[in-house]
Formats: sequence, C-alpha cells, structure tokens
Amino acid sequence: MAPLDMISKNGSSIPTASRRSFLGLSAAASAAFALRIVTEPMLAHASQRSVPKDGVRIDANENPLGPCASAREALAAIVPQGGRYSFWLTDDLVETLAEMEGLKVEQVRVYPGSSEPLHHTVAAFASPQRSYVTADPGYEAGMFAATTIGAKVVKVPLTKSYAHDVKAMLAAAPDAGVLYVCTPNNPTGTLTSHSDIEYLVENKPQGSVVLVDEAYIHFCDAPSVMDLVKAGKDVILLRTFSKIYGMAGLRCGAAFGRPDLLEKIENYGGWNAMPVTALAAATASLKDAQLVPERKRINARIRGEVFAWLDRNGCSYIPSEANFFMLDTKRPAKPAIDAMAKQKVFIGRIWPVMPTYTRITIGTASEMEQFQVAWQKVMTGAVTASVGAIPGAGELGRRRRNLDGILVRA
Ligand SMILES: Cc1ncc(COP(=O)(O)O)c(C=O)c1O
Repeated sequence: MAPLDMISKNGSSIPTASRRSFLGLSAAASAAFALRIVTEPMLAHASQRSVPKDGVRIDANENPLGPCASAREALAAIVPQGGRYSFWLTDDLVETLAEMEGLKVEQVRVYPGSSEPLHHTVAAFASPQRSYVTADPGYEAGMFAATTIGAKVVKVPLTKSYAHDVKAMLAAAPDAGVLYVCTPNNPTGTLTSHSDIEYLVENKPQGSVVLVDEAYIHFCDAPSVMDLVKAGKDVILLRTFSKIYGMAGLRCGAAFGRPDLLEKIENYGGWNAMPVTALAAATASLKDAQLVPERKRINARIRGEVFAWLDRNGCSYIPSEANFFMLDTKRPAKPAIDAMAKQKVFIGRIWPVMPTYTRITIGTASEMEQFQVAWQKVMTGAVTASVGAIPGAGELGRRRRNLDGILVRA
C-alpha cells in the first residue's frame, strides 16, 4: 500500500513522473546545489534603496490588486490544513492547468514560482559547451543561471520593433543549448510573433531547447505557443501566478513541456511539496473566468492613461503590451530614479544597453497619478537626486539590498 501522503483525494496513489523519480538524481543533483536562484525582487532591489511602507512601488512588475476574491476565500479555507503536505492540492492544480490548456498531466509541473524552472532549464540544457542565448535587453535571471554553471551568455539585440531577432539569435550561437524568448519581453513589454518562435524551434541546433517565458502573456492578445508544447516540440514554456493573478508573494508558477524535457529539468532542482496556500489560491484563480479579461482591461486602461499623459507632456516611452513599460529619461537614468525615490516613488532598474531608460510598472490609477506628479517634478528639475536618506524611511533610507538580499550602505 502507498504511504498516506502519496494517496490522492480520490484514493488512487499518485503516479506522476516527479514522484516516481524522486531518488534517482544523484549525479545531476550535485550541480543543482551550486545554482542560486536570481529573482525579480532581488534584481529590483539590488540597486534600489529600501522602500518605506508608504512608498509607491512600481519597480518589480507586481500586481497591486493581489489575489482575486475567490483565491482569498480559498486561502482562508486552506490555512487549517497547513500542517500537512497535501499532495492532492498539487494534483488539483496540475489537472486544472492540463484541462485548460488541452495537455496531459505529464506535460505540466508546478513550482513555487517560475524562477525555479527557469534556472533549472538553463542548468539542464546549457553548459560550458552549450551557450545560453537571450535578447538584449532581456530578463536577466537566466543569464545569472548560465554564468553560474559556466555557460557562455550570448546577448542578441532586439529588432527595431523590439521583437526577438530570431535569425540573429540562431546565427550568433550555433552551439546554443538554451534559446530564451520572453514574450511580452521583460523589460520592453513588446511581442515576438508566434511564427518567429516557430522558426526558432524549427531551426535551432540539435539537442537545444527553446525556453519561452510567458510570464506576462495574459496582459496582451498575442497567441501563446502552448500549441508547440502540445505538438511535442523541443519547447519548455513557463507561466507564473505572480503577474496577472496577483500572487507574487504567495509563490506559484508552472512549466509545460514534453515529459522527457520536464524530467530532465527536474533532475536539477528535485521537487518538494508546494505551499498549500499557493496551490489553493492558484486553482481558485484559474476557475475565476472573469479574472484574466477583467484585469487585462484594468491594466490596459491605466497603461493607456499613463501613455496619453506622457504624450501630452512630450515624454518618450516604448509602447508596451504588458503591465510595465520603458520610459526614456533622455539622460543617464540613475539620477532620475534617485529623484523619484526621494519623492517615495520607486521605479525600476536600468538595462546597460538602454542607459537612458528605466522600467515603470503599471500600478493602481492612484499610484500612477503619484508617479505622474513626481515625474513632472523630476523632468522640470524641481526635484533632483540626492545622496541623503529617503524622507520617512529612517535608517533604512540610507541602505539598499545587494543581490543576496542583504542590506548594505547606499
Ligand atoms: C520574465 C519573467 N520571468 C519569470 C519571472 C519569475 O517570476 P516568479 O518566480 O515570481 O514566478 C519574472 C518575475 O518578474 C519575470 O519577469
């Protein structure tokens, strides 16, 4: 008889590949220990002073709406069961995702966020002999993972329309192990077409995978490449509950792919029981048919209002399809970021290839009004950067976090 924890709620033992293979890891597992996970909050706060409680935080692409009402109810209801691993909740979420996407359960794995499968995919398919290929500017986490394992990072400029230049990506790295495509792209919020991703998949080097990060796909109308997963291509697709679902602090994400690919990435991270709160809230969120269209509408409306204000005020930005956008300061962006922080409005970081731009997350309408008031003052020179403390932040105001999350002197 299977141990109690391995029994699903309908009484059957759980035969998922992840639980079958949980001890057969020894060779690969040692590599996973060397891999540290770099996340958006680490990146957002590495160059940012610590944020006072009443600050406007539009620096880490979070969703200020938080979990939806039914997710909040599910969270409250699951708390008394927090003393158990409750694997059946994982099965519930996997089954719900599989059903929604038209996949088999073996093609779905859930994680506490999508950062883990992102790093583990890089560890599994890139190596000192097989490069990690990414867009520039692009989301940095995979580059850190590649560097950690000694793989070459090949950065390929976006096209003029800020799409991934798939032909240039292929030409730049005939030795590619992982070709990473984030669409909409973090930080530009711009799309790469389905046909371009298909081209990449059809023409990539043998033995490599295309890692498609759809963290922000729900904010736009672009088609997903889930059909390529369904067709059994060499594609690993990532989704997260941290963005439109408003669950960044609850930690839930998913990887979709062929079972053999998922098993390979699992060798680099193993598996663990998921937080029951994340599972309950994620499953409830998926069952709320209104959540995605409603939040997409809210984000698009506020984003449109911000763009209209920027247009009226002669500011340049990259039109985005996501819950963030790149704003051109027309000068090195760091002093503008500091001057905004002085007004307790915390905006995003800089990508070296676009040194005059800073990334702005779409917050609530009221937060974006505060952003506009503060930005106007920065642009007119009424407020400039200062090396002093952030008003109201006390001792924390003179410090920032480094990439290890440790407070250091600013
Ligand atoms: C492009 C992209 N991928 C993945 C992630 C990982 O998010 P999480 O680990 O919260 O699911 C983020 C977070 O901001 C992101 O921007």
